Amino acid sequence: PNDRPEDESERGLRVSDRGFLNTAVIESSITYIDGDNGILRYRGYPIEQLAAKSSFLECAYLLIYGSLPTRAQLSYFEPEVLNHGVMHADAAGFFRAFRYDAHPMAILTSAFAYLGSYYREANPSLQEYLHEWCKGGPGCTSEHGQADFRLIGKATTLAAMAYRVRQGREFVVPPTGMSYTESFLFQLDHLSHSDAFPTTLTSGGATYRPHPVLVRALDILFILHADHEMNASSTTVLQTGSSLPDPYSAIAAGCASLYGPLHGGANEAVIRMLVSIGSPENVPEFLAAVKRREKVLSGFGHRVYKTSDPRSFIIRKVADEVFAVTGADPLLNTAMALHDAALKDAYFVSRKLAPNVDFWSGLIYRAMGFPMDFFPVLFVVPRVVGWLAHWRQMMLSPEGVKIWRPRQIYVGPSERPYVPLEERQ
Ligand code: ACO
Repeated sequence: PNDRPEDESERGLRVSDRGFLNTAVIESSITYIDGDNGILRYRGYPIEQLAAKSSFLECAYLLIYGSLPTRAQLSYFEPEVLNHGVMHADAAGFFRAFRYDAHPMAILTSAFAYLGSYYREANPSLQEYLHEWCKGGPGCTSEHGQADFRLIGKATTLAAMAYRVRQGREFVVPPTGMSYTESFLFQLDHLSHSDAFPTTLTSGGATYRPHPVLVRALDILFILHADHEMNASSTTVLQTGSSLPDPYSAIAAGCASLYGPLHGGANEAVIRMLVSIGSPENVPEFLAAVKRREKVLSGFGHRVYKTSDPRSFIIRKVADEVFAVTGADPLLNTAMALHDAALKDAYFVSRKLAPNVDFWSGLIYRAMGFPMDFFPVLFVVPRVVGWLAHWRQMMLSPEGVKIWRPRQIYVGPSERPYVPLEERQ
């Protein structure tokens, strides 16, 4: 204590970095982005290869534990995650307490915090359980090592419950014998395109099997959305996690951050924008309004990418595969006209504004029949994996966890005397 400077100003440099443009908050070995060259890798593997060859749960394993799973590891991990999809029957009461028209993100954000109330390790005063959980990976026999499985497994169930409660429908118990994304679509049970694939599965009264092209499309979208290094919501999870609350609360905080239109709400904003443009001939007028700063070109621009987001190319291809099953979205022509015009326009070129992951994803979700306010939920479900990977990495870092407590540059008044109520003007 003796060598601590008494005057705060002597404690070193204080940097003002609005929006954290140049602030690195953590050392990480999870995801690599080269924004100038449009490169994205999970644990060193190019996103293009993972999207082409991997499954979402394989990528989940990779992101959280650092390597692609062996066959034996996958055959342990996958059923653990899927088996943990089942929610306690009491949870039905929690979901039914929401208004019939509640936004699904409001329900889901609350549901993650609520989930913590079921587990003993989710009590911040029991810190030994927190650390035990972080260490527990596949093969861990500790009950508390199972919580990765719980959060990934239950993300789809909570999302499906948030979906169905608004329709006044019974909840569906996650089926067996289906992949992660197929099980999710099955629980939602809303896709008219699925009729061609009837099955004998009868859980919750449903009688269909989701279309395999749509299942694979959603799996790829989940892979692409699983992580993206220090985006706003992952940073929020770490910021929240740094004061050592339970991870369910940290993930609820991440969910709230993702909800915003500048982050996970952007794909919904893209559809609203396309609907407002109406048809390709209105594109020039819309772009002129963007340049006058009256409108935002949603689905374009990124803090890190100064060229096209590599995920946008993969998604564009997935969109065509989905449209081949569902029929093309009538907004597609407007989207293509807008995309092509913006990429040729000096205003957007000079600012290095190119399509991001959200430009095409909303069109796919719409074609698959999802309501617009459910789009951010479809982002949260896979991003739970990235949040967990970052949270676990921070908790297990050899230096230990340091609370994230930034400083500010104070610009308010200097000391002034208190003014009694009757003398205030
Ligand atoms: N439309 C019009 N102009 C834009 C856009 C846009 N979408 N994005 C950036 N610009 C302009 C800014 O006005 C600014 O211009 P100026 O220098 O003349 O003032 C310049 O481009 C630089 O942009 P910044 O705002 O500094 O970029 P920042 O890194 O802060 O913001 C963000 C990134 C929030 C993603 C922004 O590009 C944006 O709002 N895009 C639309 C929303 C969107 O698509 N979000 C999804 C992001 S991806 C994701 O979360 C999965």
